[in-house]
Amino acid sequence: MKFFLDTANIEEIREGVSMGIVDGVTTNPSLVAKEGRDLEEVAKEICDLVDGPVSLEVVSTQSQEIIDEARRLAKIHKNVVVKIPMIREGLKALHVVSQEGIRVNVTLVFSATQALLAAKNGASIVSPFVGRLDDISADGLDLISDILTIYDNYQFKTELLVASIRHPLHVLKAAKLGAHIATLPYKVLNQLVKHPLSDIGLQKFLADWERQKQLVHS
Ligand code: E4P
Repeated sequence: MKFFLDTANIEEIREGVSMGIVDGVTTNPSLVAKEGRDLEEVAKEICDLVDGPVSLEVVSTQSQEIIDEARRLAKIHKNVVVKIPMIREGLKALHVVSQEGIRVNVTLVFSATQALLAAKNGASIVSPFVGRLDDISADGLDLISDILTIYDNYQFKTELLVASIRHPLHVLKAAKLGAHIATLPYKVLNQLVKHPLSDIGLQKFLADWERQKQLVHS
């Protein structure tokens, strides 16, 4: 399972990369706006830090404008994957740019049939939002299972990226289902590392070691 970081914050990405578990990064307009920085500038920094796909999202909503914006974003760096929203105009743009070799991550996916359309039109990645579905009492993980079944039925090469992850259980269940990628908020990455018994166990090992050292030297 690949882990992406779901952030445009350079410090979070630097820390994640130094831990060795970051295979890519996803951003969206909200995450970039939070940093208060120019998209191209921040994108270049992220691409220089991360040896893997970096998703940058278009903000246009008409197909020709989406196509132009996708071409511009793709030129920023070889690692860029262009995020296009799952709307009719987005599908039209996907059809054009995927044939030009631009890698596209279709975002804002909330149904398995949307994911089917994205794969048929050549998406490299599809991003179903599990947390936002859970928020409205629909089971986001059921959607992951359905999409994986459909992609397997037809041998689509599109990778399923689990987006809108809110907690470690989302990651665990997505991994058990065989999802290809999980994009993690930095907080969730840290939650995955932590276990109270690991911390308690280490404290005890170190305390015993100190006691032993004192005995040897007394
Ligand atoms: C990732 O590609 C999405 O932009 C992101 O996971 C959305 O997460 P949210 O629902 O927590 O905003």
